[in-house]
Amino acid sequence: MVESFGGAEDERQRAVAQSLVKHLHAFAQEVGLTQAEWEAGIGFLTDVGRITDERRQEFILLSDTLGLSMLVDSLEHGESHGATESTVLGPFWTPGSPLREYGESIAEEPSGTPAWVYGRVTDTSDDPIAGAELDIWQNGENRLYTVQDPEAPEAHLRGRFVTREDGSYGFLAVRPLSYPIPDDGPVGRMLDATGRHSWRPAHIHMIVTAPGHRKLTTHIFDSESEYLESDAVFAVKPSLLREFVPRAADDPERPEGVKGEWCSVENDIVLVPDPPSA
Ligand code: BEZ
Ligand code: FE
Repeated sequence: MVESFGGAEDERQRAVAQSLVKHLHAFAQEVGLTQAEWEAGIGFLTDVGRITDERRQEFILLSDTLGLSMLVDSLEHGESHGATESTVLGPFWTPGSPLREYGESIAEEPSGTPAWVYGRVTDTSDDPIAGAELDIWQNGENRLYTVQDPEAPEAHLRGRFVTREDGSYGFLAVRPLSYPIPDDGPVGRMLDATGRHSWRPAHIHMIVTAPGHRKLTTHIFDSESEYLESDAVFAVKPSLLREFVPRAADDPERPEGVKGEWCSVENDIVLVPDPPSA
């Protein structure tokens, strides 16, 4: 059986196909897979395909909830080389986020407690990286991302920022909230059937890019959030937890345009050269 894939011209393709078949058979044998279970499995995968379209990627959600996405992430980025760690992209990133100025707010309308997010982007020698781009997206107090919310302006809670000469960046966000991943499809049924919940701890997403450096896809996790120990997609890494420090309405460092209580979160980012030097 495994040998029948030996004719693949590409060596890597041959190795992957042979290993996949070997482990698939071992799995069926280990559990003594019945005909009815095989049919249910085929039905499940068919449903995952049926619900998937340009706006919804249920296969990635399945990979995320099976822990496969994070396993691939760790295989790809195993050694952090002293850099900021990566985590899942998730389904809510969309291209074409507005380019914004230092200090600008990503909230197009009030959406929760204002959060001043700031830090420096450096390389692994602690030298500042000027002109690095941070692509940011997050949810607001209704727990929805803008792509999930037909009422929200398109640019809401998303934006791209470029670091200054000293590598610094700063923008006004809102404190993110924990939220359930889309659970009204087959993946939600799988979570239900296996006694799992669909919640993710509160976080802000970012993709950081700079010429000559490896692209970084990561999160800032709120260190006080619920679900840090049971993220539905296993994406929490302790090094990505940050404190959202509560700040008073009359704090002299209050960012422009903020009224009432707010918070601040410091988040330095370290990028590795691409390719990493030995
Ligand atoms: C997210 O954080 O946006 C996300 C990641 C994986 C699955 C669903 C949502
Ligand atoms: Fe998210």
